[in-house]
Amino acid sequence: MTIRHFLDIWPLESAELRAILDQAHAMKKARLGWPKGKIDTGAPLDGHTLAMIFEKSSTRTRFSFDMAMRQLGGSSITATSNDMQLGRGETVEDTAKVLSRFVDAVMIRANDHADVEAFADAASVPVINGLTDRSHPCQIMADLMTLEESGLTLKGARLAWVGDGNNVCASFIHAAPKFGFSLAIGTPKRYAPDEDDLELAAELQGRIELFETAEEAVAGADVVIADTFVSMGDVDAERRLEILDPYAVTEELMQLAAGGAKFLHCLPAHRGEEVDAEVIDGPASLVFDEAENRLHAQKAILRWCLQK
Ligand code: CP
Ligand code: NVA
Repeated sequence: MTIRHFLDIWPLESAELRAILDQAHAMKKARLGWPKGKIDTGAPLDGHTLAMIFEKSSTRTRFSFDMAMRQLGGSSITATSNDMQLGRGETVEDTAKVLSRFVDAVMIRANDHADVEAFADAASVPVINGLTDRSHPCQIMADLMTLEESGLTLKGARLAWVGDGNNVCASFIHAAPKFGFSLAIGTPKRYAPDEDDLELAAELQGRIELFETAEEAVAGADVVIADTFVSMGDVDAERRLEILDPYAVTEELMQLAAGGAKFLHCLPAHRGEEVDAEVIDGPASLVFDEAENRLHAQKAILRWCLQK
């Protein structure tokens, strides 16, 4: 049986991604009002354990994956790479082979995307990308679930990304052709999205437009999306804050979007930098539903990976 890794949105068919989101919606509804630690009916991952390795900090990814395994009737083990021999130079491949003997799946948050790919190549259990320098696919599945919950039909919707063309932006680029939404990206040239991602999206008929101002990208958008100007691992914080300042999401910028436009941010946020408090804490913001949906979307991703 082929091992189902979830390293990026690209390799999955649109129908598989659709099925994951449908299951996430259904599982969320089925446990409405339940205590958060109660196990889902049928305990779909009974007897299964997820290992989680973190090379970088995390609040949402760590707690949502742990609770996901508990709600599915399984368990999880968490370690930072510094707690492990990985932090002392043991190879990614040996680590993958060893963990594959102990657990049923592995989630990794890594500095270098290539390490997650190497880990998956060597592993004999499913591997999930919990954020790398290149992408954050679990985040985007939760974001799309949140938009659907708000009543938006993804096919034909206009999403606008403003600020840094970073890892989270990349996963939106990957998802655009799969779900049929258009993506308008407003970034300065220096922090534009990855060329390879844009080329692949174009080959898949993804509707991606690039702009050099936030105003052009946001014009008429159904959804405005921001993320931190300084991601984990970025070393040019001062320069980024200066160059990206005109891309901050303010109430004035939101006025340029379509009436009733929603605001997304994967969190953690920096009020007064990439977004004003009036926007992220205002009526257009879906950010806490978005954070909660990490849990529901990942439960469906885990079930897809483990074919349960
Ligand atoms: N959005 C997100 O991935 O949050 P954490 O860094 O807290 O996991
Ligand atoms: N772009 C951010 C996302 C954090 C969840 C980072 O990589 O730090």
